[in-house]
Amino acid sequence: MPPRSPSRSRSPSPPPRPYEIRGFEIGGDSFDINIRVNNVRFDIPLSPDHFVQSPKALVLFNKIFGLVKRDDDDDDPDVWDYAREIADHFLPDFHRLAPKKVHTGKLTLADLRATGYFECEYKVVKERPTITTVQPWGRQDGEDDPCADKEWDLRTYQSTFPLFSLEDVEVPYTDGESVHDIIPQKVFVNGKTCFYKSCYSPWDALEEVTKYCKIAQSGLSMSDLRTSRLSGIVTYRDGLARGLLYDWIETKDPGTLTWAIEHDVPRSQKNKWMLQIRDAVRKLHNLGVVWGDVKADNVLIDMDKNAVVIDLEGGTTRGWVDRELLGTIEGDQQGLKRLVDFILNDDSPLRLRNRVGSDCEYESEEEES
Ligand SMILES: Nc1ncnc2c1ncn2[C@@H]1O[C@H](COP(=O)(O)OP(=O)(O)OP(=O)(O)O)[C@@H](O)[C@H]1O
Ligand SMILES: [Mg+2]
Repeated sequence: MPPRSPSRSRSPSPPPRPYEIRGFEIGGDSFDINIRVNNVRFDIPLSPDHFVQSPKALVLFNKIFGLVKRDDDDDDPDVWDYAREIADHFLPDFHRLAPKKVHTGKLTLADLRATGYFECEYKVVKERPTITTVQPWGRQDGEDDPCADKEWDLRTYQSTFPLFSLEDVEVPYTDGESVHDIIPQKVFVNGKTCFYKSCYSPWDALEEVTKYCKIAQSGLSMSDLRTSRLSGIVTYRDGLARGLLYDWIETKDPGTLTWAIEHDVPRSQKNKWMLQIRDAVRKLHNLGVVWGDVKADNVLIDMDKNAVVIDLEGGTTRGWVDRELLGTIEGDQQGLKRLVDFILNDDSPLRLRNRVGSDCEYESEEEES
């Protein structure tokens, strides 16, 4: 996600809630609000059927649904306010079913996994929220589902990277009361520091793993090919991917090119970054690997001031790579052209967009220099 300037947020920050809205899942004419409370997940499905003799509430639902459906727009504050208002009805259930516990001792990914799933029924009758029940949904035992498709089993899919269980991955923490708020990133595996990123879904990980297999098999060193490197895969017991482990890249905080570029960088340094990124993209393409989500946020500047291309997960970001070019060499070329402009031109549209207080919006139709 691109950093947001204050001018884009329309409402003041809401008071903190004892839950986290993780996002929205869209169906045909419905959407679900996904919520996390400690290590328990709650789901609130919403559809027109949930509004009985409630035309006003239904109009509001339809408006919000339209916003959720619009690509890239679930960051609309109205959507989050709406979701919070609904979630607040279930606060007593959240407290009852997902009480806070204090963690002590070593913490691993296994301790952080979800231990319960519940579906919350929300209905509006005669314009009043009336029926709210919460019931268990899916498996409650935290066990893995049997592997639905052997194609996704990382034990047979590849042999380049070691596999680790959730118990193998240690997560540092300071406050035992809020371990479930941690988004694990810096982790330790057999004493080695790694960057951890959980997979969106076990099958989505496969393409990225394939890319890193090609990189590893190329034999190119880090200075030959400046990209992040996979060091292992965290899987469930059935071999499905839970998350990926990468070699840790030490940076100054925050270490992305997005922020590094704003620090009075000499022209020679900018040229070096541009050449390093161009070289990395060319070599990736020679290996048959598409970077995908080309953008300044996906370049880290390491402690030696070298640019490192990261995040081969795919996808595109508005303003950088057109959606139609998703996962293509052409998309990389488009993104790279904009990235070069971002690095060398202080007034490039994407740089203006990132600056605090700027209202500048980059349109994909906008003329490129
Ligand atoms: N190998 C690494 N070593 C250290 N930090 C890393 C590494 N890879 C990524 N990061 C950190 O994590 C951030 C996000 O990484 P990445 O771009 O791969 O994930 P993402 O899917 O885009 O996540 P998000 O949506 O949170 O931006 C980076 O900006 C960087 O701060
Ligand atoms: Mg990224």
